Amino acid sequence: MEKTVQLYEGKAKKVYATEDPNLVIVSYKDDATAFDGTKRGTIRGKGSVNNRMSNFLMKKLAEQGIPTHFVEELNDRETLVKKVTIVPLEVIIRNVSAGSFAKRYGVEEGIPFDEPTFEFSYKNDDLHDPLLNTSHALALKLATKDEIETIRTMALKVNEILKEFFLSCGVRLIDFKLEFGRLPDGTIVLADEISPDTCRFWDAKTGEKLDKDRFRRDLGNVEEAYQEMMRRVFGE
Ligand code: TMP
Repeated sequence: MEKTVQLYEGKAKKVYATEDPNLVIVSYKDDATAFDGTKRGTIRGKGSVNNRMSNFLMKKLAEQGIPTHFVEELNDRETLVKKVTIVPLEVIIRNVSAGSFAKRYGVEEGIPFDEPTFEFSYKNDDLHDPLLNTSHALALKLATKDEIETIRTMALKVNEILKEFFLSCGVRLIDFKLEFGRLPDGTIVLADEISPDTCRFWDAKTGEKLDKDRFRRDLGNVEEAYQEMMRRVFGE
């Protein structure tokens, strides 16, 4: 399948049309942004890491009954996916306190939760992705009740599968963000990506951060952390 016209350019990916109206090609960039795009940089090799890792994880999730947009990896950076309309909700699951949770509620990072937390942000950079609850999402008609229930059930199942998988790689899955899309018939599928850009990964032994927080917080060894996550996942 060949790319035709570019449909969209986001902060970390470009999306191209193909001859098939139901399929698009996603091309992952090395560009990195944080804080609604106000911090910018390049993480060499990130596009390839995120593409390959995300595809690997989507395939694993599909095997366990989670419908996804994934169709076929075309090369290191490009993947054929089903065309979806993205539900404008960032779905965030947390197993351990970190990031905006720790900041908002005034707690330390690293406190494990008895049960995972589930939250939504409204996917809107101009508004800085504000936190919102189910009734807000319904009021704004961002999704239906049924869709929100489907998304919640799927996201929590994704958490169980990924938490166990990453632990087998020596990595704690602290938290992560998912996005879902609608197929033309309305089916909800997991879309976007699952990568060190969208998850917090801490080394299970040392607690070392192996994700985009190294870029957000200027911790150094950013590229090395992405490559280390590849080794953990693929044993490369
Ligand atoms: P947060 O603690 O900053 O709210 O982030 C929670 C998780 O979501 C973390 O794993 C990083 C991911 N995330 C994104 O994928 N995109 C974003 O824009 C933000 C703010 C967080």
